[in-house]
Amino acid sequence: MRSSKLIRFPTLFQKHHQAIPSMSSPTPTVVIIGAGFAGMWAALSAARKREIAGRPDSSVEIILIAPEPILYIRPRLYENDVSEASAPLADLLAAAGVRYIQGLVQKITVKEKIVGYTSADGNSSTLPYDRLILASGSTLFRPEAVEGLAEYSFDADQMEGALKLDAHLKSLASQPESPARNTVVICGGGFTGAEIAAEMPRRLRGILGESVDVRVVVLERAGSLDFMGPHSSPVVKEALASLGVEILTSQTVAAIDAEGINTTSGTRIASKTVIWTAGMRASALTAQIPTERDELGRLFVTQNLQVCGVDHVYATGDTAHIAADDEGHLTLMSCQHAVNLGKSAGNNVMADLLGLPQAPYSQPYYGTCLSLGPWGALFTTGWDRKVSLVKEEGYKLKTQINTQLIYPPPPNRAAAFTAADPAQQLIA
Ligand SMILES: Cc1cc2nc3c(=O)[nH]c(=O)nc-3n(C[C@H](O)[C@H](O)[C@H](O)COP(=O)(O)OP(=O)(O)OC[C@H]3O[C@@H](n4cnc5c(N)ncnc54)[C@H](O)[C@@H]3O)c2cc1C
Ligand SMILES: *[C@@H]1O[C@H](CO)[C@@H](O)[C@H](O)[C@H]1NC(C)=O
Ligand SMILES: *[C@@H]1O[C@H](CO)[C@@H](O)[C@H](O)[C@H]1NC(C)=O
Repeated sequence: MRSSKLIRFPTLFQKHHQAIPSMSSPTPTVVIIGAGFAGMWAALSAARKREIAGRPDSSVEIILIAPEPILYIRPRLYENDVSEASAPLADLLAAAGVRYIQGLVQKITVKEKIVGYTSADGNSSTLPYDRLILASGSTLFRPEAVEGLAEYSFDADQMEGALKLDAHLKSLASQPESPARNTVVICGGGFTGAEIAAEMPRRLRGILGESVDVRVVVLERAGSLDFMGPHSSPVVKEALASLGVEILTSQTVAAIDAEGINTTSGTRIASKTVIWTAGMRASALTAQIPTERDELGRLFVTQNLQVCGVDHVYATGDTAHIAADDEGHLTLMSCQHAVNLGKSAGNNVMADLLGLPQAPYSQPYYGTCLSLGPWGALFTTGWDRKVSLVKEEGYKLKTQINTQLIYPPPPNRAAAFTAADPAQQLIA
């Protein structure tokens, strides 16, 4: 893993904070589950609020619990080289006066306000909270109906999967040439599927040799590939076609094995590399909050990010179901939304504990930046995704978003990127 150059510290946090003493007195405690964009920003935002309210670190304890003190930049996991798709968080959290606990949360008991977790050594412990922020994100949806999915498919959902895919692709070079070896099938023609597919011809040729006849196929269940809406989907299709990517629509995957894939209509494609990308579901921890969830497993929250009808529990990032604007556009499972949802949750939880007014979440501006391999990238603005930048110009913006963690700015604000406070650069 590389240095923390990906993250610029808000100057507020650069002063030295003392280690938090262990408390026997009832210090109010915020527990944040998750170290993704939402969890990290919730922690920093809660610490910021504590600081600007003039309270010492010891007045409210902020604890972030996650399996590793690392921010994995999931939007970069489709890239050829994922060595820069993560950033260490330990120093940042310590500087902000946030205590990090290494652990995987297994159980949330809202009645007793306790989370139960296992630590790296396998021991179980519990942690009481006064306010809980659930920022445990999402994972790839893997339907049980698809035979062989767990055993034979690859994905780019988490770092582990991205590394496994990379090792597998590299191992193909030492296998005898065959259609199955030279073919990659991507299941799902959505955001992730399109980004992986667009990268794949060049990636495969880099491994197998420039002269090898590689085949990259996207299987989409719907009748057409139109996840970017009527303005931008034609551009995506054109870009994929120019890269030699085939799109097969109305295809439902039935079974995957080591040598290929079968669809329900009886099509068989020989392939040693089947990549699954069929959507995301909110973290399983959401099921432990005793209330309703939406069809993606997200918890319904108020505009202050408190889980509706559940005291003292907030949900943010990919675990929250919330409208981004007054017109009712729901947030997507995206970094763009996770960053601001995280900031909002951290701020509001601290305000709640300190008896200060909360600030409702609102993020009317929406943009999408889709990476499309050697073609470049497509940047669209608005919820109807009007084409704004294409190819090289779009790619420059995508690189900026992916390396400076700015989600995604309107193009005319590009000049404002160098503003001093990263927190202010993000779209409010
Ligand atoms: C390949 C790919 C491409 C993407 N491209 C884009 C893009 O271009 N633009 C965009 O905006 N979005 C993109 N996304 C979506 C984006 O990555 C997610 O929406 C975003 O990461 C959500 O942030 P989060 O903090 O809510 O959750 P996550 O990033 O999922 O983080 C969850 C955190 O919770 C921790 N956690 C989970 N369970 C537990 C537990 N039981 N106990 C303790 N900790 C736990 C995890 O370890 C992690 O630290 C992409 C996603 C993928 C997979
Ligand atoms: C974990 O459990 C083992 C065995 O019960 C014990 O020896 C060890 O001290 C525990 N570790 C921690 C960090 O509590
Ligand atoms: C996939 O289809 C082939 C024939 O096309 C068949 O022999 C095989 O059993 C099928 N695999 C599964 C797991 O259904």
